[in-house]
Amino acid sequence: MDKIQVATEKFSELIRSQLERVERMKAEKDFIDYAKLDTIIIGVVGGDGIGPAITAEAHRIMEYLLEDEVKAGKVEFRVIDGLTIENRVKVMKAIPDDVMEQLKACHVILKGPTTTPRAGDPWPNIESANVAMRKALDLFANVRPVKVPEQGIDWTFFRENTEGSYALGSNGVHVDDDLAFDFCVTTTDGTERIARAAFEYAKKMGKKRVSIVTKANVVKTTDGKFLRICKEIGEEYPGIEVDDWYIDIMTAKLVDEKRRQQFQVLILPNLYGDILTDEAAEFQGGVGTAGSSNMGKRYAMFEAIHGSAPRMVEENRAQYADPCSIIRAAAMLLEHIGFVEKAERLTRALDKCMFEEKKLVITGRADGATGAEFADYVMETIRNI
Ligand code: IPM
Ligand code: MG
Repeated sequence: MDKIQVATEKFSELIRSQLERVERMKAEKDFIDYAKLDTIIIGVVGGDGIGPAITAEAHRIMEYLLEDEVKAGKVEFRVIDGLTIENRVKVMKAIPDDVMEQLKACHVILKGPTTTPRAGDPWPNIESANVAMRKALDLFANVRPVKVPEQGIDWTFFRENTEGSYALGSNGVHVDDDLAFDFCVTTTDGTERIARAAFEYAKKMGKKRVSIVTKANVVKTTDGKFLRICKEIGEEYPGIEVDDWYIDIMTAKLVDEKRRQQFQVLILPNLYGDILTDEAAEFQGGVGTAGSSNMGKRYAMFEAIHGSAPRMVEENRAQYADPCSIIRAAAMLLEHIGFVEKAERLTRALDKCMFEEKKLVITGRADGATGAEFADYVMETIRNI
């Protein structure tokens, strides 16, 4: 077969799989109501590198806060092992089947960082476990808040999490040695649901402005569609001002101290959302300080937004790794499943420990506190709030 035909065959296959995904989205039910469940099952997945160490601390804090609910059978924790790079490579899958089965038996998941292989690594270049989980559990809304009150920063990013450049990021085509294609995917249903999630949030929280960020002037088809649909959904929310920005100038405006105070809720396609949220988190103290929620209608997953820091493990420093980002993710999880007051107490305690009192400081080394000591400090602070 000639190379154009081979590539065309592959492209046809991708179109078929995406059309099937569209059908699945259309058949999707509404958001799960946690209040109606007899038992909410929380999966705790350690991941790679420093993941198990920091996740265990967030788990301990959640168990402390939910002690009564666990006793009453309203909440159940399940520790899910095996989402390690070694296991994933053994079966050559982003998520081994047995792990996937256990994940699907939960309602919400707290996940530590996982190694993302890339070309040149000692690992085969398999798909990122993060990306695979977001797709498999259809976690379409990646919600990332960033707050720096003294600088007037209070942003909530709604990053589309299942489409864009990520949908087929591991399915590009090498037509021959000289020519490679990747694909970017935008669907009507996929865009409507992220836009609606952002506008509903804005409405609920009394936000007055939603900013749509794309590169629709150049990436005309997929970004163009994303922008058009977000604007259309915005028309259903008359009290909210909608503006649209290109990703390049938005990246610049986030460092404009006056201008950036005006942004409130932002909607972005997957890749721009990935990039802009790292920049945004930097103003707050770095990616180690931010939590991230991945929401779908049936499942939700909460995670730290930093990596697995394998060097810290190699140098026997995992116990000194900073658990703050995953603890913040745990607070988001608690809020999401309806324990709003407990989530607030945890967030307040964490803010106090991290930014105000600072009785213990994490340095990542033996001259700083361990993650366990810091988690104890957070729990002690919760008790006194
Ligand atoms: C994130 C991360 C992931 C992403 C990586 C680890 C695949 O950077 O959650 O932002 O690109 O989405
Ligand atoms: Mg990222």
